[in-house]
Amino acid sequence: MKIRVLGKGLEVSEIGLGCMGMSHGYGIPADKNEMIALIRFAVGKGVTFFDTAEVYGPYINEELVGEALEPYRKEVVIATKCGIKMANGKQVVDGKPEAIRKSIEGSLKRLKTDFIDLYYLHRVDPSVPIEEIAEVMKDLYKQGKIRHWGLSEAGIQTIRRAHAVFPLTAVESEYSMWWRQPEEELLPALEEVGIGFVPFSPLGKGFLTGRFDRNTTFGKEDLRPIYPRFSAEAMEANQSIVGFVKSLAIEKNATPAQIALAWVMAQKQWIVPIPGTTNLGRLEENLGSTAIELTPEDIARINEALGKIPVMGDRYPVEFAKRAGL
Ligand SMILES: NC(=O)c1ccc[n+]([C@@H]2O[C@H](COP(=O)([O-])OP(=O)(O)OC[C@H]3O[C@@H](n4cnc5c(N)ncnc54)[C@H](OP(=O)(O)O)[C@@H]3O)[C@@H](O)[C@H]2O)c1
Repeated sequence: MKIRVLGKGLEVSEIGLGCMGMSHGYGIPADKNEMIALIRFAVGKGVTFFDTAEVYGPYINEELVGEALEPYRKEVVIATKCGIKMANGKQVVDGKPEAIRKSIEGSLKRLKTDFIDLYYLHRVDPSVPIEEIAEVMKDLYKQGKIRHWGLSEAGIQTIRRAHAVFPLTAVESEYSMWWRQPEEELLPALEEVGIGFVPFSPLGKGFLTGRFDRNTTFGKEDLRPIYPRFSAEAMEANQSIVGFVKSLAIEKNATPAQIALAWVMAQKQWIVPIPGTTNLGRLEENLGSTAIELTPEDIARINEALGKIPVMGDRYPVEFAKRAGL
């Protein structure tokens, strides 16, 4: 497994593992022992970068990741996030300094560690100046509780202001073959100031793998039906992008998932995707994407073709969209 560097020196495997779906977002939580085995299998394959958050579950995803990685703590990079709470069954953004200071204590305990490698603010709280957050993160760094910090789904001005107070190591936002908006302003800005990029949902929440169509029904506790891109109509219309990914897979003797991941990794050396899965076979498949070579000529050709394929449906429902890009 090759290594990539985020920001000014956080070394991670070139592909990470997103752990959210094991406990949250895509159906009822998977079996804990199976997920521990899956995470440890990833470690055995050279994956050193694991992504979780306080709100996933809430709490049980951090507990799972903490238990799975305890024997390997020194060899791995754990990224977790603060700043979203559950209140009356709804997610609420809370980036107040006292909330962050309280959150980190809980995360450290659940993750069975005395430091967090990469601590993200999960969503920007518009009621708290980002400079105040950066000062809190600087203080947590001085106390040895975090090694690096980052922002998730933040706007460019916020990123620049935060970075000026206490340098950011990474920004985590959605990016994939069907959500390329980050190419417009975010990626050039990150490159300019030397911040790493961690794309979430690099498989389009599973859609780009070709496993969903208009007849798909999602299980209990699966959030996908609330995303406009996952309406039956959109899933039907968006088979055009799936068809394109499948044609590339045939050309490169790969699977659609591997193409989707190789495409993300081929964009820049400082980009490290964190695909999620609850299945050992699919984990192996996804790790196989590191062997797929997409040349600059391939990427130029693919991007031109992608630019001509319309994608139907917003990526977020209105409530969620309001919290992105602040
Ligand atoms: N910062 C944020 O706000 C934010 C938001 C969303 C996600 N994230 C992070 O990013 C990680 C990844 O994003 P994501 O889970 O939303 O989306 P993703 O990685 O694009 O897709 C995950 C989905 O794809 C399926 N899948 C994975 N590999 C597959 C394969 N080879 N073939 C077919 N299906 C496959 C998984 O199902 P199976 O389990 O059945 O394989 C799961 O339903 C999360 O785990 C989380 O840590 C962060």
